[in-house]
Amino acid sequence: MKVFTTAAELRAWEVTEPIVFVPTMGALHAGHASLMKSARRPGHLSVVSIFVNPTQFGPNEDFSKYPRTLDTDLEICREHGVDAVYVPEVVDIYPVGDATSVIVHGVAEPYEGHFRPGHFNGVATVVLKLFHLVNPAVACFGQKDLQQCAVIQQMVRDLGMRVQIEVLPTMREPDGLALSSRNRYLSPSDRADAIRLPQALMKVLTELQQGREVELTRTEAIQDLSSAGFDVQYLDWIDPVTFTPQTHFDPQYRVILAAKFAGVRLIDNMGLQDLDLINQKLP
Ligand code: PAF
Repeated sequence: MKVFTTAAELRAWEVTEPIVFVPTMGALHAGHASLMKSARRPGHLSVVSIFVNPTQFGPNEDFSKYPRTLDTDLEICREHGVDAVYVPEVVDIYPVGDATSVIVHGVAEPYEGHFRPGHFNGVATVVLKLFHLVNPAVACFGQKDLQQCAVIQQMVRDLGMRVQIEVLPTMREPDGLALSSRNRYLSPSDRADAIRLPQALMKVLTELQQGREVELTRTEAIQDLSSAGFDVQYLDWIDPVTFTPQTHFDPQYRVILAAKFAGVRLIDNMGLQDLDLINQKLP
């Protein structure tokens, strides 16, 4: 496995096959591993980037304490047969005097965009730069960050980029909690209680499928989570392409959720297809 730490090294790599790219911020877990597995395809090269991108963190967010586990991450990449890992220096991505960024409007504005102002500008900017550096034919993202996927798809469409975006299903713990690098901030007892989040999403989906009114269902779910100590920032029923709230049931729509619990901000989302899968897997 090749490990590049500068843009110059990456550019000097002579590549003859199309690249399937998995951009990450490290602290790799089984969710990333499933993206890596999907990136390994005959006739293609798989490339993972590991970069904790400062511009996507707000001033009071966890940039400085975000888990940095490079040695383990490289080991995981090696185990999954990744062809190359790019671990850029900050100056590779943000050269001194850098004055250019990408702003996506519309889909980037509500929900995560509202609660984390500037977050998606940071994401879109770094992803665009990484795409230019790595030059992938395909890039894989996890559906756990549903709005991020929509923002990147919008950017790729608007800027006429040729990369194909693939969105892969959220990986979950056996009890249903979505895998996230931030789960490791939770104490064992808070971790046990955090399963109320996927449970709430499943309940909302089940009720909406049975024809219950959207507003009533989401208000009740927010109340239940709040009484259990969750600070719910949003819980809504949306069109996953436009991120606009919806008032009727459609099997393509998804329920999205962000909540702070025990000082940790967690996000999750589910659609009808996931509900069947999760129900099969839960004990
Ligand atoms: O999803 C992530 O890990 C990050 O937002 C990404 C896409 C690697 C950009 O920094």
